[in-house]
Amino acid sequence: MPDRIASIWTRWGGDPRKLGTLIRADDHVRFTYDAQAGDLPGLSLAHPVGALIRSGQTLEWRSDILQPLPPMLQALVPPRHEANLQRRILKKILADRGKPASGPEAEWEMLLLSGRGGIGHLDIFADDTEARNHYAGRRAPAATPTIDDPMWRLVKDAIDGGGPGQAERGIEELAALVGPRPTALGMMPKMLMRIRPPGRNEAVDAVVKFETGDYAGVLALEALCHDIHKEAGFDTPRIWLTEAGTLRLLIVERMDRTSQGTPLPFETVFSILHAASAGKIDLPTTDAQTGLPSFETVANMLVASRLSAFRDPRGDAERIYRRIVMALLTGNGDLHLENLAFLGTRPDARLSPVYDPAPMRAFPQHDMVSAIRFGDMRTDTSALVGDFGDRVLALAGAFNLRRDSARKAIRESLDATETYLSRVDALDIPDGRKRQLEGAVGGIRHRLERIAGHS
Ligand SMILES: Nc1ncnc2c1ncn2[C@@H]1O[C@H](COP(=O)(O)OP(=O)(O)O)[C@@H](O)[C@H]1O
Ligand SMILES: [Mg+2]
Repeated sequence: MPDRIASIWTRWGGDPRKLGTLIRADDHVRFTYDAQAGDLPGLSLAHPVGALIRSGQTLEWRSDILQPLPPMLQALVPPRHEANLQRRILKKILADRGKPASGPEAEWEMLLLSGRGGIGHLDIFADDTEARNHYAGRRAPAATPTIDDPMWRLVKDAIDGGGPGQAERGIEELAALVGPRPTALGMMPKMLMRIRPPGRNEAVDAVVKFETGDYAGVLALEALCHDIHKEAGFDTPRIWLTEAGTLRLLIVERMDRTSQGTPLPFETVFSILHAASAGKIDLPTTDAQTGLPSFETVANMLVASRLSAFRDPRGDAERIYRRIVMALLTGNGDLHLENLAFLGTRPDARLSPVYDPAPMRAFPQHDMVSAIRFGDMRTDTSALVGDFGDRVLALAGAFNLRRDSARKAIRESLDATETYLSRVDALDIPDGRKRQLEGAVGGIRHRLERIAGHS
């Protein structure tokens, strides 16, 4: 197969500028920064762009079936599950255009089809002419659906379609109606769109998450956990939990746009660690065999490495430690490295506000203490070791926190989650989810109370 070329641009700072050239060969992808791009934020926070340009370096990533694209570009195509809503829509559009809709070629085609306007500051084009045309506004304006838009019924059909062929018809009609759109990571069905939240006059740029029958209650639980994190002092985006017909939606305002609508770099911790470790960290959740990545690896990135990317690495280390404790206490075993991200540019990037705090342990198939391992123990189970509390306390050391600060963080998290289970109980969600969370949270709470000297 001949090499394929794409052009990467960014609208960061206001005016569209070219960042560099991406080349895809059979077994690798390589990228060269444009000579004029020295002042722009790079593909990763781990890239010192000016120095890479001066040394004439080309970056290269091995590509295989599991990892066709490097993480910061893979984040611009839909997650690689056949059931993924965004992937099904793009596959339909590709198939209609006679392009490959599965296999490694499809990843590349999807990147060219929808890789702009996505999360963060990177826009991907087939060539510079396409980029200039796009920015000159020759594209159709994005629709701003209201809550009674017919689109929602199609989404409902596509994700939950009961009758024969109903789901496929939903996808076909949606593909025709919405066209190729930018996409976002994650397992839950969602779309990126501009939307006017209920009771408001202005539209916001949002990640809109949809609830499927299999995950009944998940969005109400996620919204509650947003509230609890906010009350505990974390920065959180504005959210609206609402319904459109029978479809339940969680509208989450995008944090990767300025108030003028220009993009801010937004990079997951997985992508940063992948770039900083030259590909050694190659999964966003812990691999049972290698035990990598762990929360200690994340701590190291902030505390011990010399990445020179972060404005307040010590403050962010403490914030991540507190996020971990809150996740443990709310039954969120899903705080993996695509659910933590940094916003902004070198050397001033900062931990992003909270997103996806959904307490996934409410669902038996996700009932594990933590998708990321720590404290030299297995956490991909619901069982707790006897000295679990001590290991949570010891983890604080990796994040550069003294024991008294760690105890304080744990005590404050215990306070912030004191009424959590009764608030879960008050939600209109299936009883099974409530019982499941009680089981997940009780033992952890008890052990953390013991080590925090909580009264
Ligand atoms: N408010 C937001 N602003 C910018 N990006 C976001 C926001 N919320 C989520 N994202 C991005 O979208 C991805 C998917 O959202 P998430 O809520 O994690 O969905 P899921 O529950 O499917 O994992 C995240 O990994 C992140 O990259
Ligand atoms: Mg997520």
